[in-house]
Amino acid sequence: MQTVRQLEALREAVSAYRQAGERIALVPTMGALHDGHMALVEAAKRTANRVIVSIFVNPKQFGPNEDLAKYPRKEAADSRMLTNAGVDVLWMPPVEVVYPEGFATNVSVSGVSEVLEGAHRPGHFDGVATVVSKLFNQVQPDVALFGEKDWQQLAVIRRMTADLNLPIEIQSVVTQRDDDGLALSSRNAFLMPEDRAKAVALPRALGAAAKAIVDGGEVEGALAQARDTLAAAGFDVDYVALADAGTLEAVGAYEAGRPLRLLAAARIGSTRLIDNIALPE
Ligand code: PAF
Repeated sequence: MQTVRQLEALREAVSAYRQAGERIALVPTMGALHDGHMALVEAAKRTANRVIVSIFVNPKQFGPNEDLAKYPRKEAADSRMLTNAGVDVLWMPPVEVVYPEGFATNVSVSGVSEVLEGAHRPGHFDGVATVVSKLFNQVQPDVALFGEKDWQQLAVIRRMTADLNLPIEIQSVVTQRDDDGLALSSRNAFLMPEDRAKAVALPRALGAAAKAIVDGGEVEGALAQARDTLAAAGFDVDYVALADAGTLEAVGAYEAGRPLRLLAAARIGSTRLIDNIALPE
């Protein structure tokens, strides 16, 4: 695997692949890789001849009171995992290559960015959309892969890619989970053992709410029950919501045939977790 930190070297590698007529996949990450990321890499290998993984802890998507400084950084372990997985290029630009002096552009996707995570983390999705458009322009992949755990992020990126006519296919990969159902996340490393044990309440509360709704229960009642269950398990709940899977607009009633997503964000101890599941169509 080639580790590249400057744009010229990245462009050289990409243009050699292009000249050979190869299909290029990009897996954007912020590092601290786990099996969820590796599932993206495996899916990338199935769909493309060349796989480029980016690791960049993007300061623009962290709010002033968020965990940028303590976000886990595991460069050596990440690099080993990607080498073993057969990745071709690790794109690891320093912050000044991504945001040089005078950088003044902001990519903002209205609507889908403004609710749920967007409402609780103002500016977060502008940071994501800005860095992902930069990564798309730097790498110019044929396909880019994102995990469904960050469902709203995926919806924002799909909207942005369509709106800007970016010639990039967006592929999603289902959420990878621990044996007890907790969604894999780099932030799980921050969970104290007693909080890790309680964290399983999050996927369970979502599963129970989804079942209640599909069985004909009233949506607001099912969501309130999930919030109460999470609070009783020790979570401080930001939201549990039923939303349109594409626009993330709140949905008040189950509609068979309409893609719907049940999403939640809640803090246990000092760690904020998010999760989501699909409702059967
Ligand atoms: O999902 C992530 O790890 C990040 O939000 C992403 C897409 C790499 C942008 O920084």
